[in-house]
Amino acid sequence: MSSNTFGKLFAVTTFGESHGPAIGCVIDGCPPGIGIAPEDFRRDLERRATGRTRHTSQRREADEVEILSGVYEGRTTGTPIGLLIRNTDPRSKDYARIAEQFRPGHADYAYWQKYGIRDPRGGGRSSARETTMRVAAAVIAKKWLAEKFGVRVQGYLSQLGGIVPRGIDLSVVEDNPFFWPDAQQVAELERYMDALRKSGDSVGARVDVVATGVPPGWGEPVYGKLDGELAAALMSINAVKGVEIGDGFASVAQKGSEHRDRMTPQGFASNHAGGVLGGISTGQPLRCSVAFKPTSSLRLPVEGLDVHGNVVDVVTTGRHDPCVGIRATPICEAMVALVLIDQALRHRAQCGDVGTVAPRIPGQIHG
Ligand SMILES: Cc1cc2nc3c(=O)[nH]c(=O)nc-3n(C[C@H](O)[C@H](O)[C@H](O)COP(=O)(O)O)c2cc1C
Repeated sequence: MSSNTFGKLFAVTTFGESHGPAIGCVIDGCPPGIGIAPEDFRRDLERRATGRTRHTSQRREADEVEILSGVYEGRTTGTPIGLLIRNTDPRSKDYARIAEQFRPGHADYAYWQKYGIRDPRGGGRSSARETTMRVAAAVIAKKWLAEKFGVRVQGYLSQLGGIVPRGIDLSVVEDNPFFWPDAQQVAELERYMDALRKSGDSVGARVDVVATGVPPGWGEPVYGKLDGELAAALMSINAVKGVEIGDGFASVAQKGSEHRDRMTPQGFASNHAGGVLGGISTGQPLRCSVAFKPTSSLRLPVEGLDVHGNVVDVVTTGRHDPCVGIRATPICEAMVALVLIDQALRHRAQCGDVGTVAPRIPGQIHG
């Protein structure tokens, strides 16, 4: 009811606040036998972390995962997995003023209206610090998906403000701090972000995620559609204002003759659908695109209200991301992986005996 749990069979419950002693999650329903060690979490948590480049918030968290339960001699046991990460670098004094004010564009006012109380330190539960645990849980999901099915989930930044990649080369995405798929443009992005940070303003971004290797059949009509659950999962990430599957809103201007993905014995001739038809995967790559709004915490003053209803100048100091989308790539990947493992387990539960149905169209030929 309070919606801190995600997933039906691979159910992840997260807890914790930005400046509390720790954040954590419990994963219930994880398949047994998956090899997992604390080091396995390091790569994705570092990809998501703050303070690794000058283009993100300068908060420096160690993000060391403690495995509390559900893993014995390096393998999951099928019992609930408890993961904990201690918050090591909160700086709550930066938030003294925010405790009395509502930041326009942030969750302060909505939380205040809903609960009548809030933890303002670092944004409390509304902080994207919570997404650390989604990324941690998804490390296990990604591992199972890769080992069982060869599924690979890869994200990249597909727009930063008005800048779009001139080319898409996924092999360079991990080589720059922006998850940007065009190595030639990284210097331009650096200059853009340096000027933005100096101005005190923020900007939006778009993240694309592609999942390859997903077999046909995952997803449940009608209320558990794969695309519906992907959209809900991605929309649950902080600051997300839009999600597209496949061609998304571009489909509006397309003709049916153009949009339909022709089937050939060699594979689908195109992938406008984004790998989902009728809420069920087709075996084509899954394509999702996610719109992030600009960060609302700005040092530029804006007229606003305090908790007593007085008109005040709201100025937000402290450490903030000038573009939240930059660190969001691993978070988007995580939510896609969590949806996929849950749908895979649900498919196995109901349709595990169906097996491979002919004809099976190769899904990977056209992206
Ligand atoms: C990776 C990431 C980092 C974020 N960092 C900040 C931040 O430094 N400052 C801020 O005001 N909002 C930040 N946000 C966005 C807020 O968490 C979000 O805007 C806020 O909770 C209100 O929710 P909403 O935008 O989804 O409506 C971040 C979001 C993400 C995904």
